[in-house]
Amino acid sequence: MARRPLIAGNWKMNGLKKDGRALAAGLAKLMKKEKKPAFEMLVCPPYPLIDRVVEAVKGSGIKVGGQDSHTAVSGAHTGDVSPAMLADLGCKYVILGHSERRTDHGEKDALVKAKAEAAIAAGLKVIVCVGETLAQREKGQTIAVNRRQVRGSLPDGADAKNTVIAYEPVWAIGTGLTATPEQAQEVHAEIRATLAGLIGGEADKMRILYGGSMKPGNAGELMAQPDIDGGLIGGAALKVEDFWGIAKSC
Ligand code: PGA
Repeated sequence: MARRPLIAGNWKMNGLKKDGRALAAGLAKLMKKEKKPAFEMLVCPPYPLIDRVVEAVKGSGIKVGGQDSHTAVSGAHTGDVSPAMLADLGCKYVILGHSERRTDHGEKDALVKAKAEAAIAAGLKVIVCVGETLAQREKGQTIAVNRRQVRGSLPDGADAKNTVIAYEPVWAIGTGLTATPEQAQEVHAEIRATLAGLIGGEADKMRILYGGSMKPGNAGELMAQPDIDGGLIGGAALKVEDFWGIAKSC
């Protein structure tokens, strides 16, 4: 089953106006030179930069996404942003349930699922993040935790067109520690099997990204694994040459 790799940059809370524009413009320039990219490229800047990043990547084929969105279309939710607002700005995707949202904002699977359903209803594609902590891995709970998070966070009506899963072991995020290709593949295969139990044959078409200290030096061997269909990249997505290096290793 050929799944087109998705190379997604999660800029997190980084960058001022000039940085966002330079990064997006740098990537757009490279992408425009690429005849037939073997990958789909996505950048997810912080909210204040989305508008200008959408402008900067215009005509390059690079897509833009948000890093979170609310369950409601509008209303009294101070500080929140709705999926309709992201779509209105030109976003095509939104990352949901990132471990930093789960930790910093106490987001649980049921909320992630509700957010994902609202985002899909607003016309966005969702990247639903799952992953175990180091303590859970050491206790032998890796498979159970990822299975539970996939079951609990997957939106109703999920299919390969509207949903992407990102497996991000929490212990590998921003730490420089990366899951070995074998460790990652084992979990990706389990996630795909869990998806098959939920959505049947659609699971074969759904992309499952790896995230956690992915770099140009390790991306190739990770993405060569049969169930790894791209990356969700944090630190290395903030430098044009690193992010591009990862994309080119598809
Ligand atoms: P990292 O972050 O690449 O900096 O480890 C990945 C992520 O949190 O999405």
